[in-house]
Amino acid sequence: MPCPPQSDELVFFVNGRKVIERSADPEVTLLNFLRKNLHLTGTKYACGRGGCGACTVMVSKHDPVSTKIRHFSITACLVPICSLYGAAVTTVEGVGSIKTRLHPVQERIAKSHGTQCGFCTPGMVMSMYTLLRNHPQPSEEQLMESLGGNLCRCTGYRPILESGRTFCMESNGCQQKGPGNCCLDQGENDSSSLGRRSDICTELFAKEDFQPLDPTQELIFPPELLRMAENPEKRTLTFYGERVTWISPGTLKDLLELKVKHPEAPLILGNTSLGPAMKSQGHFHPILLSPARISELTTVTKTSDGLTIGAGCSLAQMKDILAERIPELTEEKTQTYRALLKHLRSLASQQIRNMASLGGHIISRHCYSDLNPILAVGNATLNLISEEGTRQIPLNEHFLAGLASADLKPEEILESVHIPHSRKWEFVSAFRQAQCQQNALPDVNAGMRVLFREGTDAIEDLSLAYGGLGAATVSAPKSCQQLLGRLWNELMLNEACRLLLDEVSLPGSAPGGKVEFRRTLVVSFLFKFYLEVLQELNKIVSALDSSRYPEISDQFLSALEDLPVTIPQGVQTYQSVDSHQPLQDPVGRPIMHLSGLKHATGEAVFCDDIPMVDKELFMALLTSSRAHAKIISIDWSEALELPKVVDVITAEDIPGTNGAEDDKLLAVDEVLCVGQIICAVVAETEVQAKRALEKIKITYEDLEPVIFTIQIPELEVLAHELCKQFHTNASLQGEGEVHVGGQEHFYMETQRVLVIPKTEDKELDIYVSTQDPAHVQKTVSSTLNIPINRITCHVKRVGGGFGGKVGRPAVFGAIAAVGAIKTGRPIRLVLDREDDMLITGGRHPLFGKYKVGFMNTGRIKVLDIECYINGGCTLDDSELVTEFLILKLENAYKIRNLRFRGRACMTNLPSNTAFRGFGFPQGTLVTESCITAVAAKCGLPPEKIREKNMYKTVDKTVYKQAFNPENLIRCWNECLDKSSFHSRRMQVEEFNKKNYWKKKGIAIIPMKFSVGFAATSYHQAAALVHIYTDGSVLVTHGGNELGQGIHTKMLQVASRELKIPMSYMHICETSTATVPNTIATAASIGADVNGRAVQNACQILLKRLEPIIKKNPEGTWEDWIEAAFEQRISLSATGYFRGYKAFMDWEKGEGDPFPYYVYGAACSEVEIDCLTGTHKKIRTDIIMDACCSLNPAIDIGQIEGSFIQGMGLYTIEELKYSPEGFLYSRSPDEYKIPTITDVPEEFNVSFLPSSQTPLTIYSSKGLGESGMFLGSSVFFAIADAVATARRERDMAEDFTVNSPATPEQVRMACADQFTEMGVRKMERGKHLSSIRIAENLLERRILGSHTKPTESETPRVGFTTTTLRRRRQRPLRDVAAAVVGQNFPSPPSACVLLTSEWQSPPNQHRRAMSLCFRLGLTDFCQPPLRRRRGAAPFTPAKPLCPP
Ligand SMILES: Cc1cc2nc3c(=O)[nH]c(=O)nc-3n(C[C@H](O)[C@H](O)[C@H](O)COP(=O)(O)OP(=O)(O)OC[C@H]3O[C@@H](n4cnc5c(N)ncnc54)[C@H](O)[C@@H]3O)c2cc1C
Ligand code: FES
Ligand code: FES
Repeated sequence: MPCPPQSDELVFFVNGRKVIERSADPEVTLLNFLRKNLHLTGTKYACGRGGCGACTVMVSKHDPVSTKIRHFSITACLVPICSLYGAAVTTVEGVGSIKTRLHPVQERIAKSHGTQCGFCTPGMVMSMYTLLRNHPQPSEEQLMESLGGNLCRCTGYRPILESGRTFCMESNGCQQKGPGNCCLDQGENDSSSLGRRSDICTELFAKEDFQPLDPTQELIFPPELLRMAENPEKRTLTFYGERVTWISPGTLKDLLELKVKHPEAPLILGNTSLGPAMKSQGHFHPILLSPARISELTTVTKTSDGLTIGAGCSLAQMKDILAERIPELTEEKTQTYRALLKHLRSLASQQIRNMASLGGHIISRHCYSDLNPILAVGNATLNLISEEGTRQIPLNEHFLAGLASADLKPEEILESVHIPHSRKWEFVSAFRQAQCQQNALPDVNAGMRVLFREGTDAIEDLSLAYGGLGAATVSAPKSCQQLLGRLWNELMLNEACRLLLDEVSLPGSAPGGKVEFRRTLVVSFLFKFYLEVLQELNKIVSALDSSRYPEISDQFLSALEDLPVTIPQGVQTYQSVDSHQPLQDPVGRPIMHLSGLKHATGEAVFCDDIPMVDKELFMALLTSSRAHAKIISIDWSEALELPKVVDVITAEDIPGTNGAEDDKLLAVDEVLCVGQIICAVVAETEVQAKRALEKIKITYEDLEPVIFTIQIPELEVLAHELCKQFHTNASLQGEGEVHVGGQEHFYMETQRVLVIPKTEDKELDIYVSTQDPAHVQKTVSSTLNIPINRITCHVKRVGGGFGGKVGRPAVFGAIAAVGAIKTGRPIRLVLDREDDMLITGGRHPLFGKYKVGFMNTGRIKVLDIECYINGGCTLDDSELVTEFLILKLENAYKIRNLRFRGRACMTNLPSNTAFRGFGFPQGTLVTESCITAVAAKCGLPPEKIREKNMYKTVDKTVYKQAFNPENLIRCWNECLDKSSFHSRRMQVEEFNKKNYWKKKGIAIIPMKFSVGFAATSYHQAAALVHIYTDGSVLVTHGGNELGQGIHTKMLQVASRELKIPMSYMHICETSTATVPNTIATAASIGADVNGRAVQNACQILLKRLEPIIKKNPEGTWEDWIEAAFEQRISLSATGYFRGYKAFMDWEKGEGDPFPYYVYGAACSEVEIDCLTGTHKKIRTDIIMDACCSLNPAIDIGQIEGSFIQGMGLYTIEELKYSPEGFLYSRSPDEYKIPTITDVPEEFNVSFLPSSQTPLTIYSSKGLGESGMFLGSSVFFAIADAVATARRERDMAEDFTVNSPATPEQVRMACADQFTEMGVRKMERGKHLSSIRIAENLLERRILGSHTKPTESETPRVGFTTTTLRRRRQRPLRDVAAAVVGQNFPSPPSACVLLTSEWQSPPNQHRRAMSLCFRLGLTDFCQPPLRRRRGAAPFTPAKPLCPP
């Protein structure tokens, strides 16, 4: 047997320690190496694609040109270890530790309350740390830039930024101050020093006490690496992996030789393009050539006509080079450089810019490339080199289109790029529109250049290039050619738009959708360019004291400014504790999260951070690729033949129950959605398990959809009276429809579980990331058919849940447990981000219809709302969500004649499930949209209608629960007052009068949020408190730490009750062995009910201790405990809380379903850009009735975090599915959650002062979910701005903005000549098939963004109607109307006609059926039934057949 070739030694440093890897595998990433090989688990996996920043570490390298050490942040998940030769890596563990010394960055992020679940925190720390290594006193802009690529799903970013700000120059931070005792040291200090004004506090931490930053304390660059860099190794280094060989030549000559030898081998630089393609698109390269050590590729040359930048320079270096060069040149020469610099600021994240190379960027030719369009119009030249010599090719449309004649030859590489200076009378601009302003791939971008004949506005040369429109960057050479010689005026602009839209064709079926929007952007950008250039021309002529060019009216100038990203500011206001409260009593004080410091140092252990256990196997899941199909066969023989693959687990291996009848753990015979789990592979390693999945062959037979109806309770309040009321009571009527898209939980820690079988009595230990360990325990028990008492579930902490870890973890736990029992070995299952997003479902998308009757004063007399939610393929929580949303639909309004109805539609999508707010955020948007529509009809501002209809005095809700709305009104008034609403409304109106292309909007929203579950048994809780003989206390309770700080609050409670400092206490984990039969930590009630249980246990203990204390009042706690032990007094107690009473009688439509309400109000102001649809949040003020917060820092964190999550739901988070039901948006690239730049510029949160509730523990309230809905204030502010724009454009005002109000929605709603052009062009474009139209509509309606049909779509459906009429069938118009969401049809005809129209050929029939099914139209095939108590919620209905 031939010996395997010998790899070179890979040498690099991690946290100051030398690493020598003798068999480095090029496929191993730094993230895996750190976590698995070095056991440095502080660096987290959350997406694996460079999109979230959880894996950020710092790399330091010696720069041979500047001879300086360069420190830069990178995402370790995209970095192959082989690329680290000679580099020093610093991870969060190398920065500081609670065991040795905390770094100020770590200390400050924790003490500023910048951590909740803590999963993003190490990445945040590393981004900030790297910034400080380069700029010990950074500017606030630099801080924002450094954190732009780090996602956090919990905090809302404000406190993270706040902690970073303490290092900034501007913040006048505490650099010079010495260390001291922190007032947050677990409750023993008085919070009175914290920004206290009488009983009101405005600071949550004391920055004066932070230890100073001392740059001399940092790890030095390893001298050994310095020596290596100064005498660089010139020989080629080769690393042989199992499948891939990495070759790193030391000289350019060797590289060129290798390129001849391996022409197919890619050059690997940043790996930000190759890496994701290898991971997700199955690209495979057996040989990789790394030019990282070739200095020629990083050379920068300034010439008299331009700048030549080495292809190996990173985009961050390019940014610095341009920023340095621009001030050295006259303005006219720098047009292209400025345009590049503009895009380099928003392209990807700091980490990606640090990694990605200019060469890699250009050669990748991504259709969305932000730089290629500018380089193309800027006449950049590519300097190529090969063994044959050098040559230059233009970076033009031919190169970008990949034409062989204009491309690199296989043996050539890109050495550098020459970017010429711009000239006098030449103007270059860049444009970009993405879902959010930062860290998002663009929908469309553009580079534009015009050169005028000297001293005139006659076009001498014109170049336009667009990204995001096709498979590559596209140019419009013909249009540009035809415009030569034309003068720069509106006639030219009109002609240019027409020509452009003809040339840059984008068919209606173009991948990525958003076709009209993208076409509209093409001309909107051109219009912006036109104005920009006109302004520049005017500047020149005004300098010459002439006025030859058209003037831009002041109103239109607003088109020119981009909405800037600004640093958020704000104040958090809360009530300080009573001045008589003992200092040691921590209740009501802003105590830091118990795990805060551990989060910041990476020492907090999450499920997958548990070290590998003996004989552990890794499990990977195989999921269905079909939406509805019969499984004909599964062949895993090839998978089992792969090395290290141990077994395949299928439904047949389940000893007990395979889930529920309608929700199987592992599919049997049939699959109901793409992403349904079919089987699992267990292997020695993760890589082997995943490779084995690819070898399993499944044959499917597609099935006609089977139709189910779901019977949902109807709350009929005066239903019989309703009709009468419409006629007698209301002088005006209105109807409308609202679509609210779904939402992905995007918890940073994906689902994961570790199951360890024990040797005795079938016992299992399960470590799982869940909100409901008892449910996991129960499910595993029934799956394995063993008693519950053999299974122990442990939850140390969860990296975010938001409802997504209530039900699903049980599925993963059970499948892993089956694997563990079958193999007899421990099983670890960690979902990829892609799989997590595909499999687990999320918030239910909702379609709501309302009919409202009202007086012209705005008083609503009658309201009828009907909601349909998309439940996905199994019941899960859909029924409960529907019930909740019906109960909560009235929000804060007293409307006596109303009817609320809700239905869940079963569809062939992954099952949707619990999500923060549980139906309230979706349903209440319908109510609030209705109010906005009433306001428009009455010609009154929406806030007047809200105020008029709000509950004002003690009253009963629609379901007859008595409540006092006093605090609701107080919140509303306080919010109006604190936000200076009325004066700002006037300022907004003033602004809008003066600006045509930018509009501001303002909205204030009231909230009545019911806390808890609608059943008493769900409010019970238990706790177990042990006091040990040294006096230390171990607290255990039934709540899980999800980041919401429940453990911190529980210790605050125990500390008050036992009257000892929190430092005596500890919480180890939540375990089913200590507190059994727990309820899911959800519904905002966790701290509330568990707090009562902890209180109960502590009171029992204290009672037992009382005689001892009485006897020795001067004794210490330790004395009393010692005495108690001597006297045989039990020092362990169980606490129990029986729960709040809650019930709902659905037959009567009455009950007391919720223990109490949280009231609040939020006011938001935004500015929109009518030409691009982008928006900026100017200010948000939130007032929340928190009563007496247990911990204001934690509660404000919950409010801010949920507000930002809600803002994401209503403005940017958009799920995209293929017509076959495959989820496209499965990574942070395609699914955008808010980033740090999305935080409102001014963000104020206040607690309502002097508020009490007798019901709850220490008069506190559960605030976990309520803030979510307040995010809709941003949505309604956008809607307000859109309405103003539409008014000005003489368009219908009763227009409904659907959620999310994405840039696409906003742009298309602010219709103008450019949207008209974009849409009109579609009609002349390729005709869509009717199926395709329906599918487009489907995608938009129930799954996606819900825009109205285009003009080209509607006539086509109309045409179909005619055909049907001829066949004497009922008109399809109803169907069309239903599909497009304008008017729900008389139901049965809809489905029937839709199917009969497409009866043949058969595959069309099937698609049509599936379309009906997914649209939820299936619900109409039989009349809605009233729900009988206990009736099976999913009942098979008659199959839907054509007549
Ligand atoms: C999370 C994320 C966000 C992003 N966001 C954006 C964005 O907003 N806008 C945007 O425009 N881009 C974005 N990108 C894409 C990014 O700009 C490119 O991936 C990057 O520039 C590629 O550079 P690289 O060095 O990593 O290339 P690599 O992945 O290392 O290589 C890419 C290709 O280039 C070839 N190549 C590299 N150098 C040379 C050379 N000198 N000669 C010949 N061939 C060469 C390689 O053979 C390979 O085929 C994003 C990427 C990620 C991962
Ligand atoms: S895990 Fe690396 S960026 Fe998300
Ligand atoms: S604290 Fe940031 S993701 Fe949880």
